[in-house]
Amino acid sequence: MRILGIMGSPRIRGNTDLLLDEALKGAQSQGAEIEKIVVDKLKIAPCREDYACLKDGNCDIRDTMDDIYPKLLNADGVIVASPIFFYGLTSQAKALIDRCQALWARKYVLKQKPPDSGRKGALIAVGATQGEKLFDGSVLTVRYFFQTIGVKYADELLIRGIDKKGEIKEHPTALRDAFELGCRLVQD
Ligand SMILES: Cc1cc2nc3c(=O)[nH]c(=O)nc-3n(C[C@H](O)[C@H](O)[C@H](O)COP(=O)(O)O)c2cc1C
Repeated sequence: MRILGIMGSPRIRGNTDLLLDEALKGAQSQGAEIEKIVVDKLKIAPCREDYACLKDGNCDIRDTMDDIYPKLLNADGVIVASPIFFYGLTSQAKALIDRCQALWARKYVLKQKPPDSGRKGALIAVGATQGEKLFDGSVLTVRYFFQTIGVKYADELLIRGIDKKGEIKEHPTALRDAFELGCRLVQD
């Protein structure tokens, strides 16, 4: 079983990064093969909406997304991890997701089925404030992303009130919760 983690924060060893690492360790502890993509380190241009993908389901921008599409389609589980930036995902994570409009075109325009059902996904998100709607935008985005790539939105870990780099280490349960989320993604 292959679990792909998408790390959407620009802050290496920050809260999202630490949470995702724990989740991936959890998945690995259950026998999964893991891979982590640090989006900020990659070259992923934003979607230019020229809709070349409507013809054959392929994006006409040549960059790191060429390598990421097959990873997204071949993983048995996908974890999106991002801090909340202005009530949404980071622009790094969103750029990767927007480029999956090519996969949207395959599914909804060209009527090609995404890989087999049974693939599962989870969202890990962390924000500084306490607002009730803090995660609403990100949850919607990731649900639609997963639907597009043929992954069921199976789990989430949404953590409020964490701001400083590495502050997540002081949270009473978050890192253990992330580890368990990773385990569940492989087990259930
Ligand atoms: C550009 C920017 C926008 C942010 N917007 C929000 C926000 O809308 N709501 C919130 O609660 N926290 C917001 N934050 C705080 C981060 O979500 C918070 O510091 C988080 O713990 C960072 O996680 P990281 O260490 O994984 O990057 C923002 C931070 C930045 C830099």
